[in-house]
Amino acid sequence: YSTAEHVSQEHTLHPTRSTPPSHVESARPTSGTFHWYNGLFVFGDSFADTGNFPKSDLSEVTRQWYKPYGFSHGFLQDPTGRFSNSLVQSDFIARILGRSQAPQTFRATEGNYPDKFGVNFAVGGAGVFEVPRKAPTLAQQIDSFKKMLDGGDIGKWQLEESVALVAISGNDYARVANMSSDGEILDFIGNVTDGIAAGVERLRGLGVTKVLVNTLHPLGCTPWQARPSNYTKCMGRGNMAAGFHNDGLESKLNATSSDCVYLIDLNRAFTNIIDPSDADDIPQVAKRFTEKLKPCCESVDPKGYCGQVDEDGGDQYSVCSNPEKHFFWDDVHPTQAGWEAVMEQLQQDIKDFLHISY
Ligand SMILES: *[C@@H]1O[C@H](CO)[C@@H](O)[C@H](O)[C@H]1NC(C)=O
Ligand SMILES: *[C@@H]1O[C@H](CO)[C@@H](O)[C@H](O)[C@H]1NC(C)=O
Ligand SMILES: *[C@@H]1O[C@H](CO)[C@@H](O)[C@H](O)[C@H]1NC(C)=O
Ligand SMILES: *[C@@H]1O[C@H](CO)[C@@H](O)[C@H](O)[C@H]1NC(C)=O
Repeated sequence: YSTAEHVSQEHTLHPTRSTPPSHVESARPTSGTFHWYNGLFVFGDSFADTGNFPKSDLSEVTRQWYKPYGFSHGFLQDPTGRFSNSLVQSDFIARILGRSQAPQTFRATEGNYPDKFGVNFAVGGAGVFEVPRKAPTLAQQIDSFKKMLDGGDIGKWQLEESVALVAISGNDYARVANMSSDGEILDFIGNVTDGIAAGVERLRGLGVTKVLVNTLHPLGCTPWQARPSNYTKCMGRGNMAAGFHNDGLESKLNATSSDCVYLIDLNRAFTNIIDPSDADDIPQVAKRFTEKLKPCCESVDPKGYCGQVDEDGGDQYSVCSNPEKHFFWDDVHPTQAGWEAVMEQLQQDIKDFLHISY
């Protein structure tokens, strides 16, 4: 990414509110295949959150602000509010656009928004519908985006060449456990995908030019689902629900025929690694992981969480010494290495969609 990093450094210098400074225009490469983007706007949940949930006393919902979160490559680094040992998906999307990490969090823009590259509105725990955790829903995150746009904090010029990422990764489906019938579950999946499609249409209506939407990963292959089998098996039901969700998204977003909306196939990229269909033909990208379902950071109590401590401050979790060999970091989130392996598989298609060729 060396060329891209160079470009991005130049880009961070410009200070304007609503019009592009002249050097941005002149720095824009003229090559027909290089496409320049003025902004990345991120919506969704913990797959994309880079610190929007406020830090407070340690609990399951603030664990991303405590060790061992942020721990990478054998060094204890400061936790950043990311749900990983280091980077998360939105950072990798930003890298495709020539930046080193995801744009500034919405929380950090309040009163101070020096970096005009974009804003990350994603909050861990969020979904289409309200969840017990009270993270702002997708629609509320888009409300915040609209407010910044109306107030001039985000310039209209930024949207002229802009990318949005919509990362909705299944928090809505926590309530499925309480549903009595398959019909009710299918109805609810329809409501969730309707909500995502409505969000995407709204972003397009506000002027975002390219919208990337995650498909749902195989929910049944997350460590919390695989723990009862000692991390040997995925649970078919969760994967089936993800399949219905993804089919719904595909038809509601018209993504296959659109040059504005693109479905990022996280489901395929995760599945290739953690649940390959042919055991005799394991994809190369899967071979770098020795642990595909067992998380690097595991709570002692199956109902506990990574980072949990007891009353005396004693660790109630264990952390592996080789996070680069684990696909999963905690009971639901990939490690940085996991994200790298996922995004590597998807990167070329995303670049093609965005007409980026470096
Ligand atoms: C499921 O139902 C129980 C008992 O009514 C309730 O406490 C819990 O919050 C519900 N879970 C969800 C995700 O709605
Ligand atoms: C889905 O949305 C419809 C319309 O808002 C509502 O009537 C229905 O109860 C919802 N279904 C579920 C399972 O939440
Ligand atoms: C998982 O491992 C534990 C400890 O080795 C063992 O007691 C338990 O029976 C195993 N469970 C399954 C489902 O294999
Ligand atoms: C998809 O196409 C249908 C029918 O043309 C349209 O009603 C709907 O708004 C489109 N959805 C999106 C997300 O653009």
